[in-house]
Amino acid sequence: MALQIVPEIVLSSGHKMPVLGLGTAIFPPVASEIVVRAVLQAIELGFRHFDTASVYQTEPALGEAIEEAIRLGLVKSRDELFITSKLWCSDCHAQLVIECLDLYLIHWPLSMKPGAYEYPPKAEDLLPMDYKSVWVAMEECQRLGLTKSIGVSNFSCKKLDHLLAFATIPPAVNQVELNPYWQQKKLIDHCKANGITVAAFSPLGAAGTSWGSSRVLESEVLKEIAEAKGKTVAQVCLRWEYEQGIGIVVKSYNKERIKQNLEIFDWALSDEESKKIGEIPQSRRHSGEEFLFLNGPFKTIEELWDGEL
Ligand code: A2P
Repeated sequence: MALQIVPEIVLSSGHKMPVLGLGTAIFPPVASEIVVRAVLQAIELGFRHFDTASVYQTEPALGEAIEEAIRLGLVKSRDELFITSKLWCSDCHAQLVIECLDLYLIHWPLSMKPGAYEYPPKAEDLLPMDYKSVWVAMEECQRLGLTKSIGVSNFSCKKLDHLLAFATIPPAVNQVELNPYWQQKKLIDHCKANGITVAAFSPLGAAGTSWGSSRVLESEVLKEIAEAKGKTVAQVCLRWEYEQGIGIVVKSYNKERIKQNLEIFDWALSDEESKKIGEIPQSRRHSGEEFLFLNGPFKTIEELWDGEL
């Protein structure tokens, strides 16, 4: 089977990240064998970057799959892989930050009471995050070699600026919802200006999840381009994202689709096609509503995203 080579991006930490990673978020969680099988198939086909989070409950299965991949000789060692995980809100307290990774992200810009692992969260569990002490603990993780790079997820430009004002190690990555229906142009420009790599989650719109919709895969604009190019809608979408100069974590547990998603690096969109995608009306789908409570750290969507809607 031909191995697809995925290009890499150099992060501000100096470490390289394969631009395309396999996402593993699925709710409700599936049996670990399904995750292990998908990760092994993905490694066999060429994926080297895997995205997990403690709240996804896929960290153990990913670990198991990596061990098996080494045993089978699909990779020689763990060093050939790039693993991202995320600090869940209830661990967003300086003393609870610890991992052993390539990239460790603060999952959301808020905290929850230690031990509260429920998702969606309960109102009484939410707390404002003490950004400074949590970030200092993240920096310590990098200094100790527990993770090679650190970053954030679901941060607005304003929250990034707040962090950058005191960070001694700036965030290498901001992982956010990004696809043709929520292109995040302002955030991409702001991150580029500050040496932060943007990584896209829900790059295909996360159809079938509570935080996604089928609007991307059913897009008439994307369908038309896909037909003209002899590609699938998913491939057109991922190629457009790649051309934005960002990282992408696409979730699939299906071998054919895992393979298809890797086949985006030897062709390009025309200026006209990119322009058409650029004109798609914009709206955020994953608004983080589950974190909004009258007595919580964020009462409205505007507060959570600092009006960047
Ligand atoms: P499956 O795991 O059955 O392949 P996102 O990456 O935006 O979160 O989207 C994930 C969703 O898109 C999953 O439901 C996944 O289903 C589906 N998906 C992934 N790759 C493709 C593809 N190439 N074509 C169609 N659907 C896809």
